[in-house]
Amino acid sequence: MKLFNSNFSAKETMLASKLIESGDIGFGPLSSKLEKLFKNKSGKQYNVSTSSASSAAFMIFEYLKSIHGPCDVYTPSIGFVSPAWAAQHLGHNIIFVDVDDNLLFDFDDYLYKRSNNSQNHSVVMPVLYGGVSQIPNLKLKGDETLVVDSAHCVTPKIKSDFTFFSFHPYKPICSSDGGMISTDCKKARDFFNCYRNFGRKNTKNSYDIVQSGFKFYMNDLNSCLAIESLKTHADRLKTRKHNFNLIKSRTAVFDDILFNSRLIDHDENSSYYFSTIIADDNNRNKIKKLYPTSTHYPLLHKTKYFNSKAKLKNSESIHKNIINLPLYKIEEPPIIEMWADSIMIN
Ligand SMILES: Cc1ncc(COP(=O)(O)O)c(C=O)c1O
Repeated sequence: MKLFNSNFSAKETMLASKLIESGDIGFGPLSSKLEKLFKNKSGKQYNVSTSSASSAAFMIFEYLKSIHGPCDVYTPSIGFVSPAWAAQHLGHNIIFVDVDDNLLFDFDDYLYKRSNNSQNHSVVMPVLYGGVSQIPNLKLKGDETLVVDSAHCVTPKIKSDFTFFSFHPYKPICSSDGGMISTDCKKARDFFNCYRNFGRKNTKNSYDIVQSGFKFYMNDLNSCLAIESLKTHADRLKTRKHNFNLIKSRTAVFDDILFNSRLIDHDENSSYYFSTIIADDNNRNKIKKLYPTSTHYPLLHKTKYFNSKAKLKNSESIHKNIINLPLYKIEEPPIIEMWADSIMIN
């Protein structure tokens, strides 16, 4: 069963093909059009389109290093690798933090782990897992920088200094690859604008290299797809929300009898990216058989690369019982029938 699907309409295909015919598919005006349109989704004044969420995270950590030097970056182990990798690669110190029962950043664990002797600036990087728009019980010291991984959520409501988004083909806003950094900091915006274009500043007939940078801009072919995807987002969101509510009502009926599991809820501004059931030790294989989807994500701190000795009690005990369900289509997969059929499996 596919957990994700990309969805390009006939109109998007037509617009992309027209653009290809015109030849104007590189860096161009559509990326700034997308940035303007995205302002009312991100809620931030400055929006900088990027080639991916991964490159967005890379630039944010490069910027934070240029301001604060190496930082302590607190992030959950249940998250995607590239933002944590970028931070570590750039010389920051990754500290894995536990999650709560809803797989969200545990701020109590952060406050507990926050070292009083560290000279480093603190950066908190929560993940809006599954598409939720905020994390309840946000607790901070007040001196940290908040970098929110909103790859799953288009309309985050959580407080942040920097938020990054993904327009990967499987994400709620999709292109063939792309991302966005949203912030209210003009200085950072200027840094990202220049960085994504090789650190280049145009002169009369040439250009100068005025800062560090790389090729991290979003091209117009992808901006064109993302702009159209933004326009149809509300309809697709309705479908995702509807599917979630069907699963919710079905689990409410069968859950106690069959599964003894728990469905993680979404909030009002969630993007309903995917749904998550937390099974228990006795029933997880049965539910996994019913929903043979991939699990998001492997525990980062246990990967060969990070190989951290951190003890994350909740993350480690809950991880094997995570079952992610697709929400992208109502007619396929037949989630509702599968729940009904599950009575027979039982
Ligand atoms: C939570 C999370 N953060 C970051 C990323 C990276 O996104 P991208 O593929 O746009 O670089 C992903 C991609 O799957 C993700 O799921």
